[in-house]
Amino acid sequence: MNRPASALPIWHRLGDIARHVLAQTLLETSADAGRFERMCHRAAGLTLDLSKQRLSREALAALLELADVVQLKAGLAALMGGSKVNTTESRPALHPALRANPDASALVTDTVIPERERMLALAERIRTGHWRGLSGKAITDVVHIGIGGSHLGPALAVDALPGEWNAPRCHFIANVDGNVASTVLNRLNPETTLFIIASKSFGTIESKVNAENARAWFIERTGSASGFAQHAIAITSNPSAAAAMGIEAAHTLSMWDWVGGRYSIWSSVGLPIAIRIGARGFREFLDGAAELDRHALDAPAARNLPVLLALTGIWNFNFLGAQSHAVLPYSHRLRMFPDYLQQLEMESNGKSVRHDGSRVDVQTMPVLWGGEGTNGQHAFHQFLHQGTRAFSVDFIATIAPDHNLDAHHDWLLANCLAQSEALLQGRSTVSSDPLANHRAMPGNRGSTTILLDALTPKHLGALIALYEHKVYCQGMIWDINSFDQWGVELGKTIGETLFAALGGKPITGVSPATLALIDTIKRRR
Ligand code: F6P
Repeated sequence: MNRPASALPIWHRLGDIARHVLAQTLLETSADAGRFERMCHRAAGLTLDLSKQRLSREALAALLELADVVQLKAGLAALMGGSKVNTTESRPALHPALRANPDASALVTDTVIPERERMLALAERIRTGHWRGLSGKAITDVVHIGIGGSHLGPALAVDALPGEWNAPRCHFIANVDGNVASTVLNRLNPETTLFIIASKSFGTIESKVNAENARAWFIERTGSASGFAQHAIAITSNPSAAAAMGIEAAHTLSMWDWVGGRYSIWSSVGLPIAIRIGARGFREFLDGAAELDRHALDAPAARNLPVLLALTGIWNFNFLGAQSHAVLPYSHRLRMFPDYLQQLEMESNGKSVRHDGSRVDVQTMPVLWGGEGTNGQHAFHQFLHQGTRAFSVDFIATIAPDHNLDAHHDWLLANCLAQSEALLQGRSTVSSDPLANHRAMPGNRGSTTILLDALTPKHLGALIALYEHKVYCQGMIWDINSFDQWGVELGKTIGETLFAALGGKPITGVSPATLALIDTIKRRR
C-alpha cells in the first residue's frame, strides 16, 4: 500500500459510518434479523462471534472494502509464500512454514521437518526416561531458561495443556530477578535436572545471566564441569555461543532468522511442550495452527476469522475510540494468554513508522491487557462496566470442560456470557433514589466472543495462529512492519552501561536523574 490508511477514501467513509453508529445504541445496531448467523463464523474448532460488536451491516461492509483495498488476502498469501514481509530486516516471516504440510516447500521438507524430528526425538528421550544425567538417573525436572518469545509460548502451552502424568515437571526462568532462579533451583536435584537454554540470539542478557548461574549451580553441587553437557540443551540460531557454554552440538537445536522470537513457539522453542504432551500432542498443536493457516488463505474475507478479528480491532481502535484492548480468557489454563498476546501484539504492532519510513498518521496498537475470568470480575470489571475509558474486549471460553466438574464449567460459561451481555445491555435505573446514578450501567459496550470446542493441543494451536494472523492483518492496514522490534534495543544498551555504573565504573551520557538514582542505590546498599 502506498498511501497511508488515513488517505484512503474508505477510511473517511468508515469515519462517517462510525459517527452514525456511535449515535445509536448497541441494541439498535444489533437488532437486525439473522445477525448471529451472519456475524458468527467457525474454523479449525474455533467459533468467532462478532454479533455483540458495535458493527452495523454498513460498517462491516465498509471494513471488508478496506480489507480489499489493503489486499489483506494477498498479503496473507505473501506472508505464507515467503515474501520478505519483514522489510526493515529484509527477510521473510515464515513461522507458518513451521507447521506446514511436509511437502509444502523445499524449506519445509529439507530444513523444518528434519529439525522438528530431532527436537521431538530429544523430547521423547527426556519424557520416557531414556535421557540419563551424569549419575545415570532419568530426568525429573526440566528448567527452561529464556525470555520474551523464548519463554512466553512454551510457558503458556505447558500451562494450558495437561501433560502426561509421568512426564518431567517443567519450570521456567525468564526474569533476571535472582528470586526466580533461586526459587526454582533451590528445590531441584541437579542429577535429575535438565536445562533448556532457549535464546535465538544467545546474547540476551537475562538468559545469559540465568544460564551462567544455572551452570555454576550445577557444577557447584555435582563437582563436575563436564557433566553439564549431559544436563543442557540449547535452542538458538547462534550455535557457537552455545558451544562456548559447554553445550554439545548434538544437544543444540536450531532457530532461524526467518522466524521471529514471538512467532517461534512452533519451532524447537516448543521443546518443553513436546516434553509435557508428547510428540503426538505437539504434532496436533502444529496441525491446529496449519488448519487455521489454510482457512486464513482460502476463506473469503467475509468469513475469514483472522481478517474479521483484525477488522473489528481496527473498527474499535481507529473509529470508535477504544484506547485499550482487554483479553479475558474464561479458562484458568489460558490465564497466561494475555501475557503471551502482550508480546505478540504490542511488540509486533507497537510502532509509529510506516514501511517507507514516514510516520503513521493514525493510531496503531492500543494497550493490550487482561486476565482470567471469573477472577477479573472481582477485580477490574468494575472499570469495564462503569469506567470512562473506551476499550474493546475479547472473551475467550472453551465449550467442553477438561475436567468432570460440570457445574463449575457451566458457572464459568454463564459468567463469561453474562459479562458480555451486561456490557451490551447496561442498566438504567429510573428512580428518585439519589444513588441511582451510581448503580446505572451505560451498556453499549461491544465485545467479541471466541469459543474453543475444547482446550486441546489442536485448538490452542489454532487460537494462537488466529491471533498471529490478526496481528499481521492489522499491521498491513496500519502499513507497519509487524516483524521487527527496534524499540527494545536502546534500553538494553543503556542497561549495560548502568550495570557497569552499579559496579563502580564512571559513566557519561545518562541524565542527572539516573545518575542520582545510581548514586542513591550505591550509598544505601
Ligand atoms: O527484547 C525483545 C526480544 O528481542 C524479543 O523479541 C525476543 O523474543 C526476546 O528478546 C528474546 O530474545 P532471544 O531469543 O534472542 O533471547
